[in-house]
Amino acid sequence: MDVKLPDGDGTDLLKQLQSRPVKPLVVIISGFGTVDMAVECMSNGAFTFLTKPFSPEQLAVVLKKAEEHTQLVKVNQFLSHGEDDESRFELLGQSKPVEQLRQLIRKVARTQATVLIQGESGTGKELVARALYRESPRGDAPFIKVNCAAIPENLIESEFFGHEKGAFTGALTKREGRFELAHGGTILLDEISEISPQVQAKLLRVLQERELERVGGNRTIKVDVRVIATTNRQLEESVERKEFRQDLYFRLNVVPVIVPPLRERKEDIPILATQFRERFVRKHGIHVVGMSPACMEELQRHNWPGNVRELQNVIERAVILCNEGGVLEPAHLGLTPNTMEISTPIARPATFSMTTPMGASVTQTAEQSADFQTLSEIEKHHILAALEHCKGNRTHAAKILDISIRTLRNKLNEYGYKNQEANAPTEVGEI
Ligand SMILES: Nc1ncnc2c1ncn2[C@@H]1O[C@H](COP(=O)(O)OP(=O)(O)OP(=O)(O)O)[C@@H](O)[C@H]1O
Ligand SMILES: [Mg+2]
Repeated sequence: MDVKLPDGDGTDLLKQLQSRPVKPLVVIISGFGTVDMAVECMSNGAFTFLTKPFSPEQLAVVLKKAEEHTQLVKVNQFLSHGEDDESRFELLGQSKPVEQLRQLIRKVARTQATVLIQGESGTGKELVARALYRESPRGDAPFIKVNCAAIPENLIESEFFGHEKGAFTGALTKREGRFELAHGGTILLDEISEISPQVQAKLLRVLQERELERVGGNRTIKVDVRVIATTNRQLEESVERKEFRQDLYFRLNVVPVIVPPLRERKEDIPILATQFRERFVRKHGIHVVGMSPACMEELQRHNWPGNVRELQNVIERAVILCNEGGVLEPAHLGLTPNTMEISTPIARPATFSMTTPMGASVTQTAEQSADFQTLSEIEKHHILAALEHCKGNRTHAAKILDISIRTLRNKLNEYGYKNQEANAPTEVGEI
């Protein structure tokens, strides 16, 4: 912008521009440049000052700087927009069990003890793990999450401990494992029940000796890592069935942390529902002013087999379905009895209407159908319906189907289903 404009003064316009909510980046150009004028422009918010005449190269340098500046501001805004991200990690609830959980987290966080967090799917185990990490003396060190259920069985070992070049077909270069990456920090072994006996043995060694070897390597690597593990299965029962090593179970379970299901702490529902409503109102930009008492009663009545995650999903959907400026009503929740039925598949008739995750609508009644459906077709539809119900969250879907996440994954592979988990946050260190 020039200082001398045909119908006014550039410095005045500059001030006006600066009072806008979205300020343009202004480069002042002038043939009558004085130091005073430059200082005045800069203090009124100009990005920089160029004296005429200037070469195209000079202009290019200024534009490049301006571009870099804009980019930095954007990145900074993104990073400091942490308020939203941070609140995602806050453990909400005022019930007695949650208060006790918070106290336990505070105590355990101070130590280096290995922690095993147990609880049904969607109760907030990962949230508890993150709280433990944040409050620990290692809060500034790395936090590496490994989702044991999401990694193919044959790759878990190399994922945990790394591998040397040529250790197996496809190991073209040497690679550090997650334990090495977490050195000095904390590792979260999510869904620990899913690891094979071979990896269990190696993990036991890391926990006991704090040392490991990469796959295909013979050099012993020392690691200093705090281990937090989670499981939504009764690990003790896996031990009884000889699927999980007892010695490893004892090593992991130095401090047991149990996250209670939502149905056992229904007092938390109002605060959770309110916070989630506010969060999704912000996220979707829909103005929802509140929740009707009938709606809250409905939330209290429901049994929440998918726990807090289910509540979160229900509220998000409700906010989306709500009218602008309205309040949430029971109809928006979609909590018909079939939400319960889906967790008891035996009781369901072979009649259902759904949209598969692939987008095709399927309505089937055994009696109506000319070709009787095979059992595996029904199984497929049922599995995809459960996945749809859980918004693509495989852990939750496996839980309500009462099958292991590995079985679910194998079935989905069989169907050629390749969708990502809808709920899984992607982050550094997560697989
Ligand atoms: N007490 C809580 N306050 C706020 N949000 C919560 C709480 N508990 C759970 N959530 C939210 O519910 C969702 C599920 O929580 P989380 O992923 O920690 O469950 P999980 O127990 O690890 O489930 P899974 O066994 O399926 O992995 C997350 O989005 C989480 O932020
Ligand atoms: Mg989890």
